[in-house]
Amino acid sequence: MVDATRTPMTPPVIRRSDYRPPAWHVPEIALDFDLDPQATRVTATLSVTRNGEGPLRLDGDGLTPRSVLVDGTPHNDWRLEDGALVLDLPGDAHEITTEVVIEPQANTQLMGLYASGGNLCTQCEAEGFRRITFFPDRPDILSRYRVRMVADKARFPVLLANGDPVASGDLGDGRHWAEWSDPFPKPCYLFALVAGDLVANRAQFVTASGREVQLGIWVRAPDLAKTDHAMRALKTSMAWDERVYGREYDLDVFNIVAVDDFNFGAMENKGLNIFNSRYILADPDTATDYDYDGIAAVVAHEYFHNWSGNRVTCRDWFQLSLKEGFTVLRDQQFSGDQGSAAVKRIEDVRSLRASQFPEDAGPLAHPIRPDAYQEISNFYTATIYNKGAEVVRMIATILGPTAFRAGTDLYFSRHDGTAATCEDFVVAMEDASGVDLSAFRRWYEQAGTPRVSATLEHFPGGGRATLSLRQAVPPTPGQQTKQPMVLPLKLRLFGAETGRPLSDERLFLFDQDAATITFETVTERPVLSINRGFSAPVIVETDRTSADLAFLSAHDDDPFARYEAMQQLMLDTLVASVASGHGDHAAVIDAIANTLADDRLDRAFVAEAVLLPSDSFIGDQMGVVDPDAIFAAREALRSDIGRALLPEWRAAYAATEADAFEYTPDAKGKRRLRTVALGYIAASGASDADAIAFAQFEQADNMTDRQGALMTLVNSDSDDRIAALDIFYNRYRDNPLVLDKWFTTQALSTRADTFEQVEELAGHRDFTLTNPNRARALIGAFSMNQKAFHRADGAGYRFLADQLIALDRINPQTAAKMLPPLGRWRRFDRTRGELMRAQLDRILSVPGLSKDMLEQVGKSLS
Ligand code: TRP
Ligand code: ZN
Repeated sequence: MVDATRTPMTPPVIRRSDYRPPAWHVPEIALDFDLDPQATRVTATLSVTRNGEGPLRLDGDGLTPRSVLVDGTPHNDWRLEDGALVLDLPGDAHEITTEVVIEPQANTQLMGLYASGGNLCTQCEAEGFRRITFFPDRPDILSRYRVRMVADKARFPVLLANGDPVASGDLGDGRHWAEWSDPFPKPCYLFALVAGDLVANRAQFVTASGREVQLGIWVRAPDLAKTDHAMRALKTSMAWDERVYGREYDLDVFNIVAVDDFNFGAMENKGLNIFNSRYILADPDTATDYDYDGIAAVVAHEYFHNWSGNRVTCRDWFQLSLKEGFTVLRDQQFSGDQGSAAVKRIEDVRSLRASQFPEDAGPLAHPIRPDAYQEISNFYTATIYNKGAEVVRMIATILGPTAFRAGTDLYFSRHDGTAATCEDFVVAMEDASGVDLSAFRRWYEQAGTPRVSATLEHFPGGGRATLSLRQAVPPTPGQQTKQPMVLPLKLRLFGAETGRPLSDERLFLFDQDAATITFETVTERPVLSINRGFSAPVIVETDRTSADLAFLSAHDDDPFARYEAMQQLMLDTLVASVASGHGDHAAVIDAIANTLADDRLDRAFVAEAVLLPSDSFIGDQMGVVDPDAIFAAREALRSDIGRALLPEWRAAYAATEADAFEYTPDAKGKRRLRTVALGYIAASGASDADAIAFAQFEQADNMTDRQGALMTLVNSDSDDRIAALDIFYNRYRDNPLVLDKWFTTQALSTRADTFEQVEELAGHRDFTLTNPNRARALIGAFSMNQKAFHRADGAGYRFLADQLIALDRINPQTAAKMLPPLGRWRRFDRTRGELMRAQLDRILSVPGLSKDMLEQVGKSLS
């Protein structure tokens, strides 16, 4: 039968308003795995209890039942609907047993049970469990799991699952078995097992109430030496969550396994986190400071999910930001506490602007709590994660630290052991604080980045100043008109003559289309510092002059605002020079000189502050993006800054030299500034720039300096570029994570032949689409390269489309995630726009396209 309401071009739409409680619950499940890469037999026994009207529906994806038992007797009265096993059951409680056989080694989607590097592992979020066994695959079904695994002992000596180990033994025929039990009811997306030849970095953690937890980070034997940083991060996270959120760990063991083939960063499966190896493995020779920071952040993130995600989970996938937004905020706070909170905030805002703002301004814009989806995997977005974190951060700002903590305590105690909603979270915040968040809820409903315009007027006679604010939320797909948002804006005025603050910092809740704020005792011309600390995730337009911004970049007492003033000054300069073809660079050069001269500033802060906004962020400020003009304007400014301040860059470079590698905030800050200084030395055109870079490349005792030098050398026209790439390749050819950097660095080159180089790299023997890290390292990075990807002849677009069409057959989830750069066609000139659209059309015409890709392409074209 053909369902006439469905054409293959539009997958069915799932709507938030259609949520219904399940007809059946599954309080218990026993799983039996006979593990083998070619044929794994899965036997599941579910105890089911009736919760409402209707049949029992057990989701399945690509499964064929070998047998179905009801209450222990073979049962033939079942049907398959859309892959799901549907049973009409007479009573209110039954025991259902199903048996299926799956083939992990053929699983290239990396969802469900799959093979990676000879080991077996699982990924079930969001809907991968249905590829393992028949089960109601929805997060509001919470079950107690018992898992028994049988496997060849030589190939799979280690058998891990969620919860605590119960028993294990030998079968005498070369096989062995292990049984695990998880006492905490959980949704099936948190199920995990791992079978493999692994070794563990073991440690212990004693919780606040004295529970002894055995920690293990499991990797292949040669990688064991690279797990210490992750282990340190894990222990630090556990202590931090006790201290800051009052959250303690709850099982006797906590295991982490690193695998090379993984669709995302990591997964918070209860008691058995599974990680992309790039977020575990680190040593100074192979990992950059950026990698080290990423590892600590992701280890913390997954650990924090034990409370914000596992103990309290999501009722349905529309509530995804309930766990992700909150948990990202928690990991950001954690990272901020480990080093400079200001620099961490700058980094987080930079990444929000790089990934979330464009999403919110494009065809895939959606609220942090979406109303509809076709494929949930497409909604693991910067909006859900990073804007979601900003929304919870705003609640914390509005409530203040004490009430916010009371709110999270109430939320955890009220909803522990249940599947909750975003609304539950907001209600807990209101109940604990007495603050009314009714209008604030619009952040969950409305997509789009609000724009705030601010004008400050000074009345010297009366010593008064008035600030006029307006806000508008732009239309987004399906949402043409918007209501004003509640924006917590941190404000302060500074005196233009004395540099002193003219007011205390104020928190203004801006919740109307327009508002006016009066400041008294404004005794000199005031300069406005607004959205300090990026207190609201909005775009702010002000009438501040270049002189005002330069002033703030030197005098503001909020480090974020200082950085922001510098960024705005650079942006204004660049946008003006894109428009006019030539720029006045004096103010930027001056402000950078002042920042470099200020010895009191943290070196990491200086490095962030003197960095120009990216090509793509500059493009986001323009009506029609002109990648060539942006590139030219940015390069012109870069080389002027390099030339004008060459002695300063050389001095900064010399002053940041280190004796030996150390991973401390201070040493990291120096390394960061050193690479930025090297970049400006190269931009100046100094004849010794390549030689300095090459010396740094060769002498570096750490990957941060080595890759930093390589990033400069790959833009060079000299032979040093080829030499460095060869040395790098030969040194690291056996390390996949470092080889990813080799691909990425070349894909980001600003050289004129980058497209041809990337095309050639796609045919390199070490390139493969089957490994998501490798695919992202080359294809994903290339699509970020504004100059090469947006080549006027459209070759970049065609190349991306070719790769995504090929990848969609292997791993649709990863392919669909790399589509958005092509979907931004409306932002470009007509010719480029048409070329991009033609590639979207071509992708759409491919027979058998995945649901993931159909949704992304369909929305991008509409
Ligand atoms: N919940 C995971 C995280 O935040 C995300 C994740 C890991 C995921 N693997 C996935 C999401 C696969 C979708 C599909 O941290
Ligand atoms: Zn998460």
